[in-house]
Amino acid sequence: MRVLIIGGGGFVGHKLAERLIEQKTLRGETITHLALADIGAPSALDADFAVTAHALDIADREAVDAILSEDWDVIYHLAAVVSAQAEADFVAGMRTNFFGTFNILEACRMRVHTPVLVYASSVASFSTDVPQPIRDWTATTPQTSYGTQKAVGELLLNDYSRRGFIDGRGVRLPTVVVRPGKPNAAASSFCSSIIREPLQGEPAMCPVSVDQEIWLASPRVTVGNLVKVAEIDGKALGGIRNFALPGMTITVGAMLDALKAVGGENVVGLVDHEIDPTIERIVQGWSSRLVTDTADSLGLDRDDDFERIVRDFMATDMRPAIS
Ligand SMILES: NC(=O)c1ccc[n+]([C@@H]2O[C@H](COP(=O)([O-])OP(=O)(O)OC[C@H]3O[C@@H](n4cnc5c(N)ncnc54)[C@H](O)[C@@H]3O)[C@@H](O)[C@H]2O)c1
Repeated sequence: MRVLIIGGGGFVGHKLAERLIEQKTLRGETITHLALADIGAPSALDADFAVTAHALDIADREAVDAILSEDWDVIYHLAAVVSAQAEADFVAGMRTNFFGTFNILEACRMRVHTPVLVYASSVASFSTDVPQPIRDWTATTPQTSYGTQKAVGELLLNDYSRRGFIDGRGVRLPTVVVRPGKPNAAASSFCSSIIREPLQGEPAMCPVSVDQEIWLASPRVTVGNLVKVAEIDGKALGGIRNFALPGMTITVGAMLDALKAVGGENVVGLVDHEIDPTIERIVQGWSSRLVTDTADSLGLDRDDDFERIVRDFMATDMRPAIS
């Protein structure tokens, strides 16, 4: 089993690599080679099998062709210019999210071997302009450039699968919380910052109302679901290859209550509140209530306890508080 993670240096890609190294198998076969590709070569990881790291710009068609000149059994396409960055820089978003995705699909089309391709889409491919809750078959009516680029990728993934060029699965990720490290350029970045920074003894800013609902999932459950999604029989999806991963709906206020319950009054006191109209507009356009029939029928997992998510972060990813 040969696995390639494109975007393997990112948050989800790194966690997924760790999970695959730990479980050693995928789709019932022993993993023999795991390749991690990202704009800059990801850092090396120890494993019982070969793990290689590659610098790859997916907007570079020749570079994509080169890495896909080998046969990969499972390809995870997680590379992206994320939401707020794609909104601020249209060309950068199109370059990676649209042309990069197209390059990966085209390189797969040129191969005789048909890989399983897991594509990370987003709930940003939906909007709040359609009847809620969102279902897997709700029309995608994105209201951001990022969401539009993800939705175009979904359509292409479906058609490339229908034609047998790939065995694709497009999964709309909830906001994944708590992201370790530093804030990123996603409009949802604050969802992690308001938990991570205070627990690490640093201030954080909440840019939306505490009543704002968020559709989220933990890194642990998201990565487990990404593994399962690669393992299902593609035929079970029929002609509709894109669906939402399970999430939980929670208000920002309830997230802060959980932080207080775990970390105490002083920790939650490190969170300040000031509305950022740009972030608020983007986040308000995302659906926070989804019915995940496909994922549920496939037996995918769902978080239901935000305090547990906070505790998991403390146990696995938290930096010690600055004194
Ligand atoms: N984390 C979330 O909350 C969330 C929610 C919905 C969807 N997603 C999607 O899931 C995927 C993974 O998210 P993440 O949180 O790990 O993001 P991330 O930003 O941590 O990782 C994405 C990686 O893509 C890489 N990348 C960007 N442009 C590239 C290019 N041209 N060529 C090669 N690599 C490039 C970046 O260097 C980065 O390491 C993304 O596609 C994202 O859009 C994530």
